[in-house]
Order: sequence, then C-alpha cells, then structure tokens
Amino acid sequence: MGRKKTVKAATAQRERVYRKEVYASERYEVETAEECSGLCMYEIVPFRGRKADSMEHIADITEEFSQSMDPILRMYSAAMSAATARLEIIEDEFRYRKRRCPIHHIDTRLKSAASILGKLNKKDLDLTLSAACNNIYDIAGIRVVCSYIKDVYLIRDRLLAQDDIYIMDIKDYIESPKKNGYRSLHMIIRVPVYFMDKKQMVPVELQIRTLAMDLWASLEHDIKYKSLYQIRAEALDMDFDRELKECSRLIYEAEEKMERMNRMLEL
Ligand code: GTP
Ligand code: MG
Repeated sequence: MGRKKTVKAATAQRERVYRKEVYASERYEVETAEECSGLCMYEIVPFRGRKADSMEHIADITEEFSQSMDPILRMYSAAMSAATARLEIIEDEFRYRKRRCPIHHIDTRLKSAASILGKLNKKDLDLTLSAACNNIYDIAGIRVVCSYIKDVYLIRDRLLAQDDIYIMDIKDYIESPKKNGYRSLHMIIRVPVYFMDKKQMVPVELQIRTLAMDLWASLEHDIKYKSLYQIRAEALDMDFDRELKECSRLIYEAEEKMERMNRMLEL
C-alpha cells in the first residue's frame, strides 16, 4: 500500500497560513487552506496565567483557569460532535451501500481543564488559553475503532476527501509502529464550528485503529501504568517492554491472517 508515514501540513505554533501539501499516496493531494484563522480564544476570555514552577502553583490557578476554559471547552465539544457526525455519515453510507460497516465503534473524550493545565506545564508553556488553543491539539479526542486495517485507511481517505476539513498532521503508526509496538493511525484535523458568531477551525485528534490494535493499546496502558511495573520487572528479571512488543507482533500476525480470510470471502 502506498501510504506515507507522516504528513506535516502545518507548523505547530502558528497555523494562520496553511501550506498546500501533497499527501504522498499518489492518489491524494491534500489541499489545505491558504488562509485559515487560528483559534484566538484568549480574545473571548482573557486569562493570563504564568508559568507554574510548582504543583501548588498549578493548584492555585486551576480554578480560575477552569472557569475561563469552560466556554472554550464547549466549542471543542461542538467540534467533537461535528467530526463524529461526519464519521457516522460515512458509516451509514457504507452500511446502506455495501451492507457492511467499516466502523466498529467510536469513543470520544474531552480533556479537562486540569489536564490541559498539566500538559501546558509539562511542555513548559505559558498557562494561558491561547497557549492551550495553539499548542494542544488533543483537547477534543475521537477514537475510531474499525474491524479491519483496510477500514482504517478507508476512513482516513474519506476524511481527506472532505474539502472543508483541514488536515494538520497524520502519523501512521501502523506503517511504522512505535518502538514499544504501538500501532494506530493518528490524524489532527480542524473542523469548522460556528461559535460566538465566528467561524472557528477547531482541532480534533483522531486515533483510528482496529479492534486488535485497540486491544493491545488498552491492555498495554493498563499494564504499563501499574505501580509495580518497574519493581516487579527488576525483581523477576523480566523485560515487560519486550513482552509487550512481542504481544503486539503476535496480535498483528493474527489480525493479518483474519483480514486475509475475510478478503477471500468477500464478494
Ligand atoms: P501527546 O503529547 O501525549 O498527545 O503525544 P504526541 O503529541 O507525541 O502524540 P502521539 O501521536 O505520540 O500520541 C497521542 C496519543 O496516542 C496518546 O495520548 C495516547 O492516547 C496514544 N498513544 C500514543 N502512544 C501510545 C502507546 O505507546 N501506548 C498507548 N496505549 N497509547 C499510546
Ligand atoms: Mg494525547
């Protein structure tokens, strides 16, 4: 498959000017807008935090930040609903035309103000609404879980074909899995949302993956964040990281086998 690992369509800091970027799958050209207004949410609610040097400081400003963030989170929530609606339309069309469904299920989550603050602090950014809106692209997150790998790319392609969605970034961890075995297709898209009488192009993070990839990622997350992970690994002289990677390989092998069987049986 002629897939490209990573597509950068805009710089992370300022996205007012979008470049026209060729999506190198031979078949696609992603047209990004020549001019697209970035989010200027600090104009709506002026909140000016300072860089936090301690967790106590974060705790002090969390309340104020949360209040300022509230209307903005509503806008991100609207963007999440808009993107989800587009996915459901794709799903419905397939169900109607082909009598099969490329999407198994969709999960959504909105980052909390506290979690946004934590991420700003971790990235050593100013604790401001503008820093949040211009640097954190997973405030609205959608996980699309598909049955087969080909469906992941089908969803990607359908989104790429929608000319009012701007593709900021695509990371293909299926073509190039992470070192630990993580596989998924990540996209940051901007969807139009009318908010406070203004059209805003709001970023939404999409993680598109198969059921098998989702199984691994969910269990890996569960295992990796157990408090005893490191301690037991040392005590038992066990390389949990390597084991997890091996699980990813085995799951991938099984998934490919089942996908081949499905292909043979399709009309
Ligand atoms: P963040 O700053 O955390 O959003 O990461 P990033 O900007 O480097 O993006 P990346 O594409 O690496 O990861 C984004 C999201 O994908 C994470 O927040 C996780 O939800 C998921 N993810 C990435 N890597 C892993 C992994 O190794 N295991 C699991 N379980 N999830 C992962
Ligand atoms: Mg994230």
